[in-house]
Amino acid sequence: MSSLDAREIPVDPVSAQRLEAIGLAYRLIDTEDSTAADAFLRAETRGFLDPEPNDELLEFERATISARRNTGVFPAGAGRTDLPVATVNSWVTPLTVPGGEIDMWAISAVTVSGTHRRMGIARAMLEGELRAAAAAGVPVAGLTASEATLYERYGFAVAVPVMRVRVKTRRAGWGGSATAGRIEYLERPRLASDLGAIHERARLQRGGQIAGWPARWERMAGLAPNDTKASSVRGVRYIDEDGTTRGVLAYTLAEAGQSEGIELSVRHLTAETPDALRALWRFAVQHDLVTIVTAELRPVDDPLPLLVADQRGVEQTVHDHGWLRILDVPAVLSARTFATDVDVVVTVTDPLDLAAGTWRLKAVAGERASVEAAPEAAADITLGIAELSAAILGGVALTRLADAGRVHGDASHIDALSGALRAERMPHLAIWF
Ligand SMILES: CC(C)(COP(=O)(O)OP(=O)(O)OC[C@H]1O[C@@H](n2cnc3c(N)ncnc32)[C@H](O)[C@@H]1OP(=O)(O)O)[C@@H](O)C(=O)NCCC(=O)NCCS
Repeated sequence: MSSLDAREIPVDPVSAQRLEAIGLAYRLIDTEDSTAADAFLRAETRGFLDPEPNDELLEFERATISARRNTGVFPAGAGRTDLPVATVNSWVTPLTVPGGEIDMWAISAVTVSGTHRRMGIARAMLEGELRAAAAAGVPVAGLTASEATLYERYGFAVAVPVMRVRVKTRRAGWGGSATAGRIEYLERPRLASDLGAIHERARLQRGGQIAGWPARWERMAGLAPNDTKASSVRGVRYIDEDGTTRGVLAYTLAEAGQSEGIELSVRHLTAETPDALRALWRFAVQHDLVTIVTAELRPVDDPLPLLVADQRGVEQTVHDHGWLRILDVPAVLSARTFATDVDVVVTVTDPLDLAAGTWRLKAVAGERASVEAAPEAAADITLGIAELSAAILGGVALTRLADAGRVHGDASHIDALSGALRAERMPHLAIWF
């Protein structure tokens, strides 16, 4: 993977100029200056409608943002201690694709203060992030969104739908096969480190996953300073018959309400073997006194419904989660392996004109593709950059996008490319960022 450090990439001059024209300065935050870092964090917290952070929380969050490229928008003439009126941050992380990994420009902390809404600041920042990433040679950008209506206008699309599950344990029962390993409780610091270690291995098994970072796992393990549920966090791990940890579950227990018994809420479940996944699901679903098990951010093909005796005891709600925006079409298409042979000419349109063009894509099943610019060729398939971004991991079928009227061309070519983009396991993104 690339060793590109996003913090070294300057702000995009086009957006800087656009913001300057409305009296605003667009600049990178020096996180070595803790006053500037705290002002950024306080503005971000306010933007996300969270309570004012205390010193302990600021210190905890500084560790994360110091590894990122943080950009603030300031009123002209703002001083060192002034809060920015808008925030965004980004970093380069590996993104798993079928058959490999590519660099992704991860975008987070997008906020605009209540006093400066609807002036085009978010648009300037998002376009600025995409132009900076493209100029640095990063082939794709990604984010998770507070609202599903914000990012398509910049060419992002949902590439990784996930599901929320709610299990009524008495109805669901258990029908899964036995596993040979054992389950053990973990203290919180160990829970955090084991979550991180297993995620680092498990993330390579499905497209859509990115690398985690220490504070992510500390938060899951109940070690973050502002975690009101910290004292209820419990953790267990699955150890296989050879003594190796293969999966970890962090969860909380609470009254389920309406005399429904106890609810076990999965905070994070990561497993690198099917045995570990089955054993940890069994631990949760068959836990004594627990009547409800809930979990967020599960892959849409999680085997859970096939592990219980009565599938109707498992409610599944699919929703958007991982949003991608391709910035370099040939780089991304040639980074993944394809499920079947394919040979098509594809024309891609782009509202920001960062990645438009016509290419001939040729691939043999199980291998990477050759992608050649073919500006003169007649397209077999025409689609927008958002639609290609949606389909690239196999999480949203191209045929489904075509049925929705969002991909155009000859049906046999669309079927062929859709089949070639299919992934054996649906993509997954197990974290918010
Ligand atoms: C969402 C948010 C960042 C938008 O900031 P903003 O500076 O007011 O947005 P802009 O003025 O640049 O608007 C950009 C575009 O988004 C649209 N838009 C802005 N807020 C929107 C919303 N809440 N829902 C749908 N569209 C929205 C605008 O209409 C505009 O569309 P156009 O450029 O295609 O005409 C801001 O409202 C905010 O900070 N919200 C709370 C924090 C949050 O949810 N952040 C997103 C994290 S993923």
